Amino acid sequence: MNDSYLKFVNSPFGARLARSLGLPKPEVLRRYRGDRPEFDGLIAIGAGHEPRLFDALAKLVASIGMTSVAHESAGLWVPLANRHGLMTGRFEAAEAGSSGKLAALLFDASGIEDSSHLEPLYGFFHDTLRSLGQCGRIVVLGRPPEACASSRQWTAQRALEGLTRSLGKEARRGITANLVYVEEGAESTESGIDATLRFFLSPRSAYVSGQVVRIVQSSAQSGTQGGAGGAHVGGGTSALAVDWAQPLAGRRALVTGAARGIGAAIASVLAAEGAHVIGLDMPSARDALAATLRPLNGTALAFDIAAPEAPAQIAAALDEQGVDIVVHNAGITKDKTIAKMSEAAWQSVLDINLGAQERIDDALLAGGILRDRGRIVAVSSISGIAGNLGQTNYATSKAGVIGRVQSMAPRLRARGITINAVAPGFIETQMTAKIPLTIREAGRRMNSMSQGGQPVDVAQTIAWLAQPGSAGISGQVVRVCGQSLIGA
Ligand SMILES: NC(=O)c1ccc[n+]([C@@H]2O[C@H](COP(=O)([O-])OP(=O)(O)OC[C@H]3O[C@@H](n4cnc5c(N)ncnc54)[C@H](O)[C@@H]3O)[C@@H](O)[C@H]2O)c1
Repeated sequence: MNDSYLKFVNSPFGARLARSLGLPKPEVLRRYRGDRPEFDGLIAIGAGHEPRLFDALAKLVASIGMTSVAHESAGLWVPLANRHGLMTGRFEAAEAGSSGKLAALLFDASGIEDSSHLEPLYGFFHDTLRSLGQCGRIVVLGRPPEACASSRQWTAQRALEGLTRSLGKEARRGITANLVYVEEGAESTESGIDATLRFFLSPRSAYVSGQVVRIVQSSAQSGTQGGAGGAHVGGGTSALAVDWAQPLAGRRALVTGAARGIGAAIASVLAAEGAHVIGLDMPSARDALAATLRPLNGTALAFDIAAPEAPAQIAAALDEQGVDIVVHNAGITKDKTIAKMSEAAWQSVLDINLGAQERIDDALLAGGILRDRGRIVAVSSISGIAGNLGQTNYATSKAGVIGRVQSMAPRLRARGITINAVAPGFIETQMTAKIPLTIREAGRRMNSMSQGGQPVDVAQTIAWLAQPGSAGISGQVVRVCGQSLIGA
């Protein structure tokens, strides 16, 4: 789908006209491209009271090849900064290279234990936000409030959400702002701090803003014993060696609804990251499915997931080698207000968007076909969070998907399997092309990016959650919505 307004206001004439009429000018978002460096430029790092994640941050920033400067808010940990060879002192725009701009702002708020400790956040963002370049990245790190020892610490850590979400709304210019809560002891690569920071600092997260992600100790770290088959998923805190260029190498991934739209993008991104993709779609979409999977050397499965025999058929097709990643993407809409909705429209949406996911997972888990340390990612929607006029059936199904990942996450932990949901906002696909023009235009603009997302934005988010190094992220919902005003 084309966003002609975005194209127009980014042309020389359109930009002049938009400026003179005071019209909004959505930024052309910088997305990941294999032929451009993923990480470059300067990161300013700030810190609050007794920062605890600094070692992990310094290591990560050095490993991705970005240069960092520490803000004076980090004065408390100057010795630490020196130990890592970071420059310290007040940030000067001149340090940021030829553009005079920073690429990212990172703030370690993990040691904040009281609301009186929140002040350095003001100082850091007050001084640096204007120096953050187009499509820059903001990441705030804290501790999960619910795991805090005191009420004061819980309060102060929870306050970070308001700050981060507001930064996303204020920054504009394609800048994203996200909050990562890292549980004490979950600083290892396996739990997800590396994969998560890489994702949020990369152009891969172009349309993910205003999100809060929790990283807890993975089952391997906490030494949980394996479930089905008695396999041991534990093994202490041994460091996970990740090939960041191909983090999914050697993995087999099932993607439903892979013939077109978001599903086709998921298949393509997972394959680019090294996975063997088994794409599934309706028998009627057989040709489109084959066209999507051919260049990826993928395997096609033509099944209707609503058919009662589908779970057993899928399990049989995957049985020999099993599967490591399951992406439940297939979904439909049949919009009508509930008074006008037919029973068939209610039932088919609930069945395809929710019931089929449950039945397929039951079959794959019962048969041990989804391997230990597997990853399940289900596609929900912001309609499932906020509700939507004319979508009682769809929103019910998508809210059910959220309930499913929340309830299953603790049950799958013993096997090292994670289950998460992504909730797309307005994504440019054939599904959203069917929406009447005025509603479509409102959906596109009502977010901090003032534009719709692309299928690849959802796909990249799923690829991050599917990584072996995202083991400490489970039971969560990540919105891919450009920080939509709906369901905030
Ligand atoms: N596009 C958006 O803005 C948006 C927003 C929120 C959520 N989503 C969700 O993202 C997912 C993908 O959406 P999309 O926009 O790419 O839709 P789409 O209609 O372009 O693609 C959906 C795919 O699922 C397949 N499918 C549908 N029913 C199936 C069945 N019974 N068995 C097998 N395959 C089936 C279709 O054939 C199609 O290839 C859906 O779950 C949708 O609800 C999309």
